[in-house]
Amino acid sequence: MRRSLRFIFRGRVRELAAFDPSLTLLEWLREDMHATGTKEGCNEGDCGACTVVLARAEAGRIQYSPVNACILLLGQVDGAEILTIEDLAASGTLHPIQQAMVDQHASQCGFCTPGIVMSLFAAYHEAERPVTREALGDCLSGNLCRCTGYRPILDAATQALAGPADDAFSRATGVRYETLAALADSRDVVIGSEERFFAIPAKLETLTALTTTHPDATLIAGATDAGLWVTKKLADLPRIIALGRVHALREVVDSETALFLGASVTHAEALPYLARIDPDLETLMRRFASKQVRASGTVGGNIANGSPIGDLAPALIALGATLHLRQSDTDRDLPLEEFFIEYGKQDRAPGEIVTGLTIPRLAAHQHFRVFKISKRFDEDISAVLGAFCVSLEGRIITEARIAFGGMAGIPKRASAAEAALVGASLDTPHDWMAAIKALDADYQPISDMRASATYRARIARALIGKALTEIAGARSQTRITSRKTKEAAHGG
Ligand SMILES: Cc1cc2nc3c(=O)[nH]c(=O)nc-3n(C[C@H](O)[C@H](O)[C@H](O)COP(=O)(O)OP(=O)(O)OC[C@H]3O[C@@H](n4cnc5c(N)ncnc54)[C@H](O)[C@@H]3O)c2cc1C
Ligand code: FES
Ligand code: FES
Repeated sequence: MRRSLRFIFRGRVRELAAFDPSLTLLEWLREDMHATGTKEGCNEGDCGACTVVLARAEAGRIQYSPVNACILLLGQVDGAEILTIEDLAASGTLHPIQQAMVDQHASQCGFCTPGIVMSLFAAYHEAERPVTREALGDCLSGNLCRCTGYRPILDAATQALAGPADDAFSRATGVRYETLAALADSRDVVIGSEERFFAIPAKLETLTALTTTHPDATLIAGATDAGLWVTKKLADLPRIIALGRVHALREVVDSETALFLGASVTHAEALPYLARIDPDLETLMRRFASKQVRASGTVGGNIANGSPIGDLAPALIALGATLHLRQSDTDRDLPLEEFFIEYGKQDRAPGEIVTGLTIPRLAAHQHFRVFKISKRFDEDISAVLGAFCVSLEGRIITEARIAFGGMAGIPKRASAAEAALVGASLDTPHDWMAAIKALDADYQPISDMRASATYRARIARALIGKALTEIAGARSQTRITSRKTKEAAHGG
C-alpha cells in the first residue's frame, strides 16, 4: 500500500502525502504552485482555457493527453507527468507550437491561448498527427477562442504540425519513459484518514474491499461529471475512490462476436473499437464532448451516471449490450436497458461497481444507424439521440431495436415502434408509418432549454424515417460524414 500521490511536475518526481480529496488540478496549479499560465475560464470543462497535458507511459510509448485541469481532481494525476504552458519554452526559445502561434498572429486577448497551445502540444506528440483541416478542427474541439478567429489558429497548427516531433520532450523520450514507467507501479494507493481520503486502488479486490467498507464513498472514473459537482455545486467530497488504475476495469477484449469494454476505458480509447462495430459510432464518438473530455471521461461513467441524455446508452441499448456489475465478490449481468429504472434511479446498489459492457457485433443481416441531434457539432449534449438496429430477411424487417436519449427521463427503448416495424418492407415507406405514429405511445418528451417537447417528438419521427431510408439504400442529404467512405475504410 502506498500512502502518497506520485507524479512529475517541472521535471521532478513529487510525492504528496496530504491534500484535500476534492482539490482540483487547476486549484493546485494556480493556488499552490502559482502556475498561473493555465487559465480558469468556465470551470466546467467547456472552454479549454485550463487545458494541460498529462504524459503517461502506456503500451511502450509516452501517451500525451490533453485534459481540462478545472474538472480533474489532483488525485487523478498519480503516475503522470503534468505539463503546463510554462514547461514548453526551453532556454528562452519558444516551442514550435508557440512560435507558430506568434508567426500566424493566432492570439489577441490571449486568455484562450495557453489551452490552445497545450492541445496542439499533445497533438504534436501523437503517433498519428492531425493534419487535415477537419482533423485539426477535431483536435481543437474543446478550445474556444472568441476573438482571434480560428483561421490563424488553424494556420499555426498546420505550420507547427508539419514536420516530425523535435523538441526537448521528444529528444529525452527514453529517459522520460523510464521515469514514467517506474512511477506507474501496481500498488494500491490510499491517501488521508478514514474520514477524508483519496483512494486509487490498483487491484479489483482492494476496490471491492474499499467499496464494501465505504459504500457511501464517491466513485470517480474520469470525473468529467463528478468534477462539476465540486466546481459548480461547490460539493465537498470527503471520501473518493478513483477507478482509473484498476487493471480489470481498463481491459478491452475485441473478438469476432463481441467487444468487451472495461468500465474505466476512456472514450478516446474506446473510439477505434466502436468504429469497427459501425462507422456511425465513430461519427458519434467524434462528436462526443471534446478531445479533452474524451481523454478523461469513461464508458462506465457515461452509463453509471444514469443521464437521460448520455450518448452511449441509447446506441449500446440498440446494439443489445450487456452491462456487468460487481458488489463485494458477486458479479451480475443485465441487459443495459434494465439498468435505467427511472430518472435519477438506476439498478445499482450502494458500493456496487459497473465493471464493463459487452457489445455484440452486428451480424450480416443487421443494420445500424445512430443520429445525434444537438445545437453544436462538437462539445454539446444531445437534445435527442436516436439509435436503430434492424434485422432483415431480404427486404423485410424481422426485428427492430430502437432506443432514444432525450425523449424520456431515462435512455429508453421504443417498444411500440419496434413491434410496429416487424413485417414492414424497406421498399414500402407507407409500412413505416405505424412505427412512426407508435412513438407517441412510447414517449412523452418534456420541454427544456435544449429543445421543446414538440421538437423532440417531431425529430424522433424524422429520425426513424431517415434511418430506414438509409438502410433501404438511399443516399442521405443530411449526413455530416459519408458512411460509404467510412465503410470502405473499415472494410465493411
Ligand atoms: C464539457 C462536457 C461535455 C460533455 N459532453 C458529453 C457528450 O457529448 N455526451 C455525453 O454523453 N456526455 C457528455 N458529457 C458528460 C460526461 O463527460 C460523460 O458522461 C462521461 O462519460 C462521464 O464519465 P466519467 O468517467 O468522467 O464519469 P465520472 O464523472 O467519473 O462519474 C460519473 C458518475 O458515474 C459514477 N461512476 C463512474 N464510473 C463508475 C463505475 N465504474 N461504477 C459505478 N459508478 C461509476 C460516479 O460515481 C458518478 O456518479 C460532457 C461533460 C462535459 C464536462
Ligand atoms: S476553465 Fe473552461 S474548460 Fe476548464
Ligand atoms: S485570443 Fe482572445 S479568446 Fe482567444
